[in-house]
Amino acid sequence: MAKGAHSSVLFFFSSILVSFIALSVAQQDFLHNCQNNNGNYTSNSAFGTNLNNVLSSISSNTVIDYGFYNESVGQEPDMVNAIALCRGDASVDVCRSCLQNATRKILEVCPNQKEAVGWYDNCMLRYSNKSIFGVVDTQPTIYMGSTQNFSENLSDYKQALQDLLGSLKDTAALGDSLRKFATRDTTSGFQKIYALVQCTPDLDKLKCSDCLENAIRKIPDCCSDKIGGRVIYPSCNLRFENTRFFSPTADSPPPSPSRPLKGNDNTARTVIIIIVPIVSVMILVICIFFFLRMRKQKPKEMIESK
Ligand SMILES: *[C@@H]1O[C@H](CO)[C@@H](O)[C@H](O)[C@H]1NC(C)=O
Ligand SMILES: *[C@@H]1O[C@H](CO)[C@@H](O)[C@H](O)[C@H]1NC(C)=O
Ligand SMILES: *[C@@H]1O[C@H](CO)[C@@H](O)[C@H](O)[C@H]1NC(C)=O
Ligand SMILES: *[C@@H]1O[C@H](CO)[C@@H](O)[C@H](O)[C@H]1NC(C)=O
Ligand SMILES: *[C@@H]1O[C@H](CO)[C@@H](O)[C@H](O)[C@H]1NC(C)=O
Ligand SMILES: *[C@@H]1O[C@H](CO)[C@@H](O)[C@H](O)[C@H]1NC(C)=O
Repeated sequence: MAKGAHSSVLFFFSSILVSFIALSVAQQDFLHNCQNNNGNYTSNSAFGTNLNNVLSSISSNTVIDYGFYNESVGQEPDMVNAIALCRGDASVDVCRSCLQNATRKILEVCPNQKEAVGWYDNCMLRYSNKSIFGVVDTQPTIYMGSTQNFSENLSDYKQALQDLLGSLKDTAALGDSLRKFATRDTTSGFQKIYALVQCTPDLDKLKCSDCLENAIRKIPDCCSDKIGGRVIYPSCNLRFENTRFFSPTADSPPPSPSRPLKGNDNTARTVIIIIVPIVSVMILVICIFFFLRMRKQKPKEMIESK
């Protein structure tokens, strides 16, 4: 009886703990790619110094208020080029906080890499020893699809999504050299579709349009029959959901009062919902295993130590 109670308590606390850890990790998810084939640098090299300088320059910048940073530090062959981009609807404060986190995180997850890229929900940061300004870069690609299928008329839905993203692509491409970003929503049957597209604004109109067109073509690879999805490139990205996940901005009228906002049923949330129970159960099983093993092994160890 006492044993049963004991392990129940263990179950309970470990599952709460695991859920907490999984949730906080997922909330600050930093998608990233360290392009290993571009080589390594050593911390005290010229490249390492230049990289630290460019990252601290971005994270401490209090002048830029339009969310786009492009900087080069140093001379060839140790030059570091960096681009940082905040989501077009992120406030200045959120943007700066996001980039402060990203500049720290990228060194942590890609130590000593000459090229790397990482994304939080609200910002993207990349650097390279190559020149990256004004160039469309679609590698690496990150796809994310909701686990939930679209349940109504699928051919209508796909068409509505294509139309929406196509028009957003045109709007974003027309943006200026500080901002190429667009959001809008539409309806298919009874289903709302909210979408967002963005290019790094160092791309010209044609390149932004090409990049987004490329991303739109990739939707069947991840999520054309899903209620939400994302295609993420270093140079541009798109995202759609069935709930409003972006702030109303100048180019998208505020939601009409007759359409109340629903919960946050976005892809990130969906991923958390799937991952938390699985991880909890896995860790729980491991805990129990070791707990039982420990109890059995204790006497043995004592004998050995005599
Ligand atoms: C970047 O670094 C890689 C690996 O060290 C090297 O092969 C490449 O030539 C460098 N590129 C430039 C533009 O310096
Ligand atoms: C660069 O560093 C990574 C991680 O430390 C390592 O896996 C990789 O083999 C290194 N590459 C080279 C070319 O040294
Ligand atoms: C940055 O990190 C801090 C501490 O981990 C966190 O509280 C904050 O929400 C993060 N900011 C953004 C924009 O992600
Ligand atoms: C979603 O659709 C795919 C393919 O049409 C199917 O294999 C999958 O089981 C569906 N998932 C759910 C949750 O209905
Ligand atoms: C879906 O919509 C298309 C075009 O509006 C229509 O032709 C088709 O019959 C619809 N299918 C279903 C299952 O409602
Ligand atoms: C950075 O971007 C701004 C605005 O797009 C542009 O005027 C400037 O020339 C760019 N700097 C570099 C180094 O490309």
